[in-house]
Amino acid sequence: MLQFNFTPFPVLQTERLLLRRMLMQDDEALFLLRTEEAANKYLDREKPTAVEQVHQLVNKIDDGIRNNTAISWAIALKENPDEMIGTISYHKTDAAHHRAEIGYMIMPHHWRKGLVSEAIKAVLDYGFNSMQLHSIEANINPHNEASRNILLKHGFVKEAYFKENYYYNGRFLDSEIYSLLQPK
Ligand SMILES: CC(C)(COP(=O)(O)OP(=O)(O)OC[C@H]1O[C@@H](n2cnc3c(N)ncnc32)[C@H](O)[C@@H]1OP(=O)(O)O)[C@@H](O)C(=O)NCCC(=O)NCCS
Repeated sequence: MLQFNFTPFPVLQTERLLLRRMLMQDDEALFLLRTEEAANKYLDREKPTAVEQVHQLVNKIDDGIRNNTAISWAIALKENPDEMIGTISYHKTDAAHHRAEIGYMIMPHHWRKGLVSEAIKAVLDYGFNSMQLHSIEANINPHNEASRNILLKHGFVKEAYFKENYYYNGRFLDSEIYSLLQPK
């Protein structure tokens, strides 16, 4: 079976970005990211109500990295590496099937600058070449046009449309699954 190894933590760099390990000092930034209205519109998960809840999340992310089961990067501008402006992750991995699920978000004042595209490129390269993934999956709310477009831009194809398979906030929501195979 495929074995992932996230130690030492793989810091990635792009033209403008540093993708680094998330630290407890990123708690305020993570709280902002997870509560910002527009950024969470299609994420369909409970928002933290206090910074302390985010501490548990940082610890959970750290456990995943230590156990080699999941990895998240803090997205920061190279010119301001301490300020986390977004996150990108393989928050679910499936070593038996060489597959992982990607997720990403960035604060709205940074939208449409091509930043997440840069991050995705680096994280796909790491996924296929270092983790040796065979396929990468993304699961979106079908109303999330920005996320769909960014996936299509990076070569993902629609694999599935699940009707009302996700229960959130008293409603059954649809999901769309996109995937990208390891380039031959
Ligand atoms: C989706 C998201 C990560 C895009 O980040 P971004 O840095 O603004 O994206 P980029 O500037 O790299 O854009 C790349 C492409 O994505 C698409 N895109 C991005 N924002 C879009 C929007 N608001 N509407 C339509 N397409 C959009 C476009 O195809 C764009 O290419 P183009 O600029 O050449 O047209 C960002 O909007 C976000 O954080 N959204 C909230 C969190 C979220 O929904 N995450 C995905 C969960 S599945």
